[in-house]
Amino acid sequence: MKLSHVGEALPVIGTRYSWVSTILLITAIFAASIAAAASTASGTIWTSLNTTLTGLLRQSEPLSRQCFHNFAGQPVAVDEAACAAVRSNYTTNLFRDARPAGYMNPQSEMCLSDPADQCILDTANTTAPPCLPSPSAACGRGAVPAYYVEVQSASDVVAALDFARAHRDSDGVYLVVKNSGHDYMTRNNGGPGGNALMLWMHRLKGMDFHESFVPDGCSSAEAKGMRAMTVAAGESTGDAFAFAAVYDSLVLGGYSPTIALSGGWILGGGHGPLAPVYGLGADRILQMRVVTPDGMERVVAACNEHAELFRALRGGGVGGAFGVVLEATHRLEPGPLPIAVASLRLPDDAPTETVLEWIELQARSSLRWGREGWGGHVAGLYLTHFNPLPAIANLRDTAAATASMREASDFVLAHGGTSIVEVLADYLAAWNKYVVPGATKTAGNARFISSRLIPKDMFTDEAGIQRIMGFLKSLPTDRWNPRNLYVPAATPFVAHTNKTYGRPLSSAVGTSAVHPAWYTSLWSLSTGFTLPWNATYGERLDTFTWFTELTQQQEGLTGEKGGSYVNEANLFTQDWREAWWGSREDYERLVETKRKYDPDGLMNCWKCVGFEDEDLVGERFRCQGKLQIAIDESLAQNGSK
Ligand SMILES: Cc1cc2nc3c(=O)[nH]c(=O)nc-3n(C[C@H](O)[C@H](O)[C@H](O)COP(=O)(O)OP(=O)(O)OC[C@H]3O[C@@H](n4cnc5c(N)ncnc54)[C@H](O)[C@@H]3O)c2cc1C
Ligand SMILES: *[C@@H]1O[C@H](CO)[C@@H](O)[C@H](O)[C@H]1NC(C)=O
Ligand SMILES: *[C@@H]1O[C@H](CO)[C@@H](O)[C@H](O)[C@H]1NC(C)=O
Ligand SMILES: *[C@@H]1O[C@H](CO)[C@@H](O)[C@H](O)[C@H]1NC(C)=O
Ligand SMILES: *[C@@H]1O[C@H](CO)[C@@H](O)[C@H](O)[C@H]1NC(C)=O
Ligand SMILES: *[C@@H]1O[C@H](CO)[C@@H](O)[C@H](O)[C@H]1NC(C)=O
Repeated sequence: MKLSHVGEALPVIGTRYSWVSTILLITAIFAASIAAAASTASGTIWTSLNTTLTGLLRQSEPLSRQCFHNFAGQPVAVDEAACAAVRSNYTTNLFRDARPAGYMNPQSEMCLSDPADQCILDTANTTAPPCLPSPSAACGRGAVPAYYVEVQSASDVVAALDFARAHRDSDGVYLVVKNSGHDYMTRNNGGPGGNALMLWMHRLKGMDFHESFVPDGCSSAEAKGMRAMTVAAGESTGDAFAFAAVYDSLVLGGYSPTIALSGGWILGGGHGPLAPVYGLGADRILQMRVVTPDGMERVVAACNEHAELFRALRGGGVGGAFGVVLEATHRLEPGPLPIAVASLRLPDDAPTETVLEWIELQARSSLRWGREGWGGHVAGLYLTHFNPLPAIANLRDTAAATASMREASDFVLAHGGTSIVEVLADYLAAWNKYVVPGATKTAGNARFISSRLIPKDMFTDEAGIQRIMGFLKSLPTDRWNPRNLYVPAATPFVAHTNKTYGRPLSSAVGTSAVHPAWYTSLWSLSTGFTLPWNATYGERLDTFTWFTELTQQQEGLTGEKGGSYVNEANLFTQDWREAWWGSREDYERLVETKRKYDPDGLMNCWKCVGFEDEDLVGERFRCQGKLQIAIDESLAQNGSK
């Protein structure tokens, strides 16, 4: 279905594919020769790496491999017990989190542009074929790296980087950083061909509490009273919350217990329900310990010689673009802090008309809620909001919290729904009651998101509200159901504008690399879909073309005042540099830092800082690049019709 554009038309990048197709051919020949070189040399190069790593190198295979009778064209044995465990835990986040080849979103396992090259199960029925004994069912490696290092120390990272530097050009070895595997955008996979070496960060554990932390190079006066916590790369959000609570403190995190707190969450920005009052995850980092691609281990902070790297990492560091983070020190809020919670829900079968009215009510109330310190999710069938500000989060008297949410409560109750507004003793209590139960079995579906930060100005006038609602109503009903709307209202809203509660942050606009729109927006308006496990190439192309057109429309809705969250964006976004990082100058500033610390582009990943248009056609990014080129061509054709 062709969609009409909302708002201004966006420039279509149209002309570059004539030369791109020529390069495509050359690159394909080059890639084939590299693959051949790697397979002849592989025995020796990997064996010597294993020796350097004192035996820590491992081979990995797709999560569901043991359910299949053949792998990469060769007959293999089915392991019934192992397969049964995969089947019954297919959607369990912790099960995937604990495995090197376990990705939350199976698009990281698949080679997206090649449906024959993947090894995944039908999520709707994980006992259905192809995992039942079926000699014809094929299992391919997809984009799962062939080798991984279970990182236990900085020296493991250094050894892997040295190895990749020595063997990238001669043997086509690529590096990839993978942690909890939450990335929606496939920056955590190895591409096709099985030549990738994964640095698996998940087992790098350790947490330390500091009553008063002074970042490297900063004066102690500046850092006075900064309670902090150093969190190793592999620690999860849930474990970090529990650790902070032992010290009567609050550390900020996102909305899923399995996300790595010092991993992609802070490297991309890091929103969460308390971000309106306390800032983004990236804003709260005081210091990091990083191995840069040149193999140097560095302490990186705002006051030392790596200030520019410190800035770039927080918002621009996804994919490991500037290096591998070993640990990050997060600012803490002293507690325990009572938290107000609003959990409102419409019946699942509420009519579409009611759902749209509900969304509009939330759009009209959201600015006031934000100012009062609420944050969380606005959604098609519910609302979950948290608030730590004392004016609302009063343990002895919930009147202010109830009054603040009255209109919304009245609405859901009048339509047969439920409403709870209460104040709990601390964040951990609110988290355990409202977030954890819904977050344990959300994995295993190839879920794609396209989101756009909506400027707060659009919520102050009738025209803005009408444009937002008009956009949502214009979405084709066969592709998108308003019941599934899921909008984080989690921008650093109060933190940035209200001096009473906006405690001095370690950074604010311009001092981290997140898109500046984070500080002037209210919603991250998300739309998305789940790709069927067995979609054909034609179906994929059709769906992603629609999806990328949708991304253009979201951009049209806000114009340049908006931006998109680099962790929750459409991986096929065309103007990704500006959409994710701001102006061309903002992006170029990051590229300069990239050149300084990674002059050879060792840590390249899909649309990470430093990714170039010619990477679209290389073998390394074929799983995404082939589809991107086809999507761009379809959109150019649609546009010229
Ligand atoms: C169910 C779910 C809920 C989510 N909820 C939220 C939310 O509430 N708020 C929010 O802001 N985001 C949310 N996200 C997005 C999430 O923050 C990002 O996907 C984030 O990048 C995940 O980081 P990770 O390290 O846990 O995952 P991974 O997929 O392992 O890594 C993500 C990216 O960071 C890189 N990376 C990870 N660790 C390191 C390291 N140590 N050094 C260098 N590079 C590294 C990887 O290369 C990869 O590109 C959610 C995602 C999912 C799937
Ligand atoms: C690396 O060495 C260890 C210890 O000898 C061994 O168990 C492991 O299988 C080796 N890894 C690879 C990929 O060969
Ligand atoms: C996997 O499934 C089995 C059987 O259902 C269950 O006993 C086990 O606890 C699950 N493991 C995880 C990590 O969820
Ligand atoms: C799942 O697939 C199996 C095998 O085809 C079938 O027997 C079973 O009825 C299916 N279950 C559901 C819920 O569709
Ligand atoms: C800051 O927040 C408090 C509590 O919500 C509010 O009373 C005050 O008016 C706000 N100040 C500004 C400048 O918005
Ligand atoms: C994909 O699998 C589903 C069952 O899960 C089936 O109904 C559908 O027809 C399949 N689609 C294709 C393109 O094979």
